[in-house]
Amino acid sequence: QKNGYPHFMLKEIFEQPEAIRSTILPRITMDNLPDLSVDQIPNRIFEKVNRVIITACGTAMHAGLIGRALIEKLLRIPVVVEIASEFRYQEPIMDENTLVITISQSGETADTLASLRLAKEAGAVTLSIVNVKGSTIARESDYVLYTHAGPEIAVASTKAYTAQLSCLYLLSYHFAYLRRTITKEQCAEYIQELKSVIPAVEQTLQLDKKIDAIGKNLICKEDLFFIGRGLDYALCCEGSIKLKEISYIHSEAYAAGELKHGTLSLITEGVPVVALATQSKVYPKMISNIREVKARGAEVILITNERQEINREIYDYHIALPNTSDILAPFTAAIAMQLLSYYTSVHRGSNVDQPRNLAKAVTVE
Ligand code: M6R
Repeated sequence: QKNGYPHFMLKEIFEQPEAIRSTILPRITMDNLPDLSVDQIPNRIFEKVNRVIITACGTAMHAGLIGRALIEKLLRIPVVVEIASEFRYQEPIMDENTLVITISQSGETADTLASLRLAKEAGAVTLSIVNVKGSTIARESDYVLYTHAGPEIAVASTKAYTAQLSCLYLLSYHFAYLRRTITKEQCAEYIQELKSVIPAVEQTLQLDKKIDAIGKNLICKEDLFFIGRGLDYALCCEGSIKLKEISYIHSEAYAAGELKHGTLSLITEGVPVVALATQSKVYPKMISNIREVKARGAEVILITNERQEINREIYDYHIALPNTSDILAPFTAAIAMQLLSYYTSVHRGSNVDQPRNLAKAVTVE
C-alpha cells in the first residue's frame, strides 16, 4: 500500500524517521550506551579484530563507505570497502582476526552472498547488516544486525540506506567503546547525538517542495556531476547512483579535489553540479572547487548545513540542511539527494518505482 503517496519511493523516503528510530532505539541502554546483546552479538567477537572488510553492492556498498570512515576515525583499525562482485574473484587477505561486515537490504544479492561465503571459508568473523529477516545472508552469517526499515518496495533503496547507516554508527560506537578508544562519556555523547538525527531527518523532509522545484529545472539535462570531499564524497556516490537509476540522467560522483585531474574539461555552460559541502574540515577547499566549476559556467546546486554563510555568487540553487555535527551529516544529506532524484525523475516521467532493466534483488551474478 502506498498510503496516499504517488510512489513507493516517496512513501519510503518519508518513512525514514521511523526506520532510523526503530533501528537505533531498541539498541540503546538507559545510560545512552549501545547494547548489541539484544541481537545476540557477544562483546568478545570484537576483542581481537585487527582488520575490517566491508563488502556489499550498490547503495549498500555506499553505506559501507561511511562505515569505513567511522571505524577508522574512532578505532584506528584499517578498514577496506570492497564491491562484492570484485571481492569474490580476488584473493583477499583474511583470517580469524578479520571482521567481515556484509551489508544487504534484501539479504539475497548473489555477489554479496558469495563474498560472505568466501569470508567464512577463510575463518573470518562475519557480521551482516540485513533488512529482510531470515534471508540467506542473514542465515549464513555468524552474527546479524537487522535494519528495522520495514519492507522496501521501490527499486531505489532509500530507507534501507539510512537504516544501514544507523547500524554502522551504533556498531562503530559499540566497537570503539569496547576497545576503549572512546570513553564511556564520549560514547554516551555520540549516542545522544545520534538520537538527535531523528528530528533533523524530519526537518529535512520539510525541504520537499523546495527540492521538487530544483528537480524540475534538471529535466532537460543529460549529464550531471556530484562533487564533495570526505564523507560528502561517499554521499555523492550514493546521490549519483540514485539519480542514474531512476531518472536515466547520466551522472558521476567526483571527489572535488580530483576535478583538475580530468573532469573539469567536461564542465561547460549550464552543466549541473551538485556540490555537497557539509564537512567543516574541508569546507574552504570545497568552496574553491565550487568557484572552479562556477567559473566554467556550471549550474551549481549547493548543499550545506544551515549554519554555513555562503556567498550568493557561487550557487544557482541552495539547499540548507538542518544543522547536525559533521559526522552525522550523511543522514540529512542522503535524504536531500533522494528527494532530488525522486522529483527529477517524476518530472521526466520515468517509472520511478520500477526503473527499466533493474530488479529489487539481484540474485544472479
Ligand atoms: O539488496 P541489496 O542491498 O544487497 O542490494 C544491493 C544493490 O543492488 C542495491 O542497493 C541497488 O544499488 C539499489 N537499487 C540502489 O538504489
